[in-house]
Amino acid sequence: MNKPVKNETFLKACRKEPVSYTPVWIMRQAGRYMKEYQAIRAKVDFLTLCKTPELATQATLLPVDLLEVDAAILFSDILIPVEAMGMEVVFTEHKGPLFPKPIRGEDDIKGLWVPAVEEKTAFVFEAIRMLRKELSQRIPLIGFSGAPYTLATYMIEGETSRNFNSIKKWMYRSPALLHQLLEKVTKTVIAYVNAQVESGAEAIQIFDTWAGALAGDEYETFSFPYTRQVIDQIRKTGVPAILYINGGGLLLDDMVATGADVISLDWRSDIRKVREKIGERVALQGNLDPCVLYADAKTIRTRVKGILEKYGKGSGHIFNLGHGILPDTPFENAKEMIRAVHEESVIYHK
Ligand code: CP3
Repeated sequence: MNKPVKNETFLKACRKEPVSYTPVWIMRQAGRYMKEYQAIRAKVDFLTLCKTPELATQATLLPVDLLEVDAAILFSDILIPVEAMGMEVVFTEHKGPLFPKPIRGEDDIKGLWVPAVEEKTAFVFEAIRMLRKELSQRIPLIGFSGAPYTLATYMIEGETSRNFNSIKKWMYRSPALLHQLLEKVTKTVIAYVNAQVESGAEAIQIFDTWAGALAGDEYETFSFPYTRQVIDQIRKTGVPAILYINGGGLLLDDMVATGADVISLDWRSDIRKVREKIGERVALQGNLDPCVLYADAKTIRTRVKGILEKYGKGSGHIFNLGHGILPDTPFENAKEMIRAVHEESVIYHK
């Protein structure tokens, strides 16, 4: 494998340009499965880590140095801009993020700001600028945002929800209000991704993690139009847009219609069939089940080869997990996955 001075394999694959091997990165690649990450977290809480550019930079670089991934992703969280809109967010050890005062009605929506993100979340853009300096001769930097719909689920549910009954209640009882909220969130997200690109992000991934719980009609009404606005903006800046939905396998045509350059698949989809269906129009990212990384090295390699074989020959594939890496994943297994992708993919690019 001959790596050029700056390894742009990831960006080339996003644009479906020829590459010499399949690039790979891991969602949540800087995380608790790494003892080096835990060492940083032992000193500061998660939000402080996100808000201190030197530390966020350090965390972002851990997997770059230790795993040899082909892209770095800014260390932050999708809920940072929601906090900047005026909502208090707490990250708890066991339940994940919590909003003590979720949005309950029109007054709460009116009370939200569309913040001047350059000031309110200046630490994000500072981290991006620092990272671009650190990474200049190495690999590209991915920025990200939650999609408006997924951010609204947190704002209304107040936490990671199982059934999404609160936001769905709004869909059926007060859809106009939900649109009001989504519009405000969309304005914030557009400014946020724009400022990330201006600061140096070279691709943007939009996480619409929870949209997979929507029926097609509801997806088209409450998520699609807002995601499309965000993706339009990203594409205007000229960087590739990647769209991820957990459970998005039934929404593929809509996902393509958002204008995204890359569709990020969860582990349930058969990437061969997805390529047949939409692979002419977009690049594909994914899609190993994160739990495969509990297996032994031989099994991990076999499953990596299976996905590479299913995607088949040619560019337009970025290898990744189908969702974030789990905190109890053995580090060595993540490393084996990266190694296997790099070694086993060369034959598909000859
Ligand atoms: O991929 C990366 O390495 C970049 C960093 C990143 C984090 N969160 C760091 C994080 C990214 C891209 C996210 C996105 C995110 N955050 C999503 C969308 C992606 C997905 O997983 O579906 C969502 C839904 C969130 C909200 C969120 N943040 C949850 C549900 C949790 C708790 C779950 C968990 O793993 O603890 C978080 C916290 C969080 N975000 C952690 C990290 C590394 C763990 C915090 C800690 O160190 O204690």
